[in-house]
Amino acid sequence: MNSEPAKCEHCTKDQKQKFDEIANIIDLYKGKEGSLIQILHLAQEIYGYLPLELQKIIAHSLNIPLSEVSGVISFYSFFSTVPRGEHTIRVCLGTACYVRGGKKLVERLQELLKIQIGQTTENGKFTFEIARCIGACGLAPAMMIDDTVYKQVNVNKLESILSKY
Ligand code: FES
Repeated sequence: MNSEPAKCEHCTKDQKQKFDEIANIIDLYKGKEGSLIQILHLAQEIYGYLPLELQKIIAHSLNIPLSEVSGVISFYSFFSTVPRGEHTIRVCLGTACYVRGGKKLVERLQELLKIQIGQTTENGKFTFEIARCIGACGLAPAMMIDDTVYKQVNVNKLESILSKY
């Protein structure tokens, strides 16, 4: 990789290691079909999100315009250019969950977390998102925190669920 992220005075050693890991991935995928999306996926897994600095490095390393990288990132909702919370909460608003109280869960979580959908709490603990059916329709309303599915959730259970994290 030609760019040297360690020059950034704010970079911690940990960040440098992450950038190095991403550089290795770029080398591995470079020139292969669909490599940009693969690289972005893995880069986000390693770094947590895709800041402009990282987008520039990826564009430069692949010898493609920055606009191409940014375009792909903005097209797919699973890519994020801002830091994400340590845990991701996804409340299902698919039809079954919506009619059985999913909306109330969303409203209560907004109050408890003091954020809106798509935002991350101030302490960086939770990112709050909406899902469209997570395969638990029979036990709606459902929500997920990271990979754990919570079924038949009601607003009174939310505080105790959150307190596990
Ligand atoms: S609609 Fe919510 S799990 Fe299917």
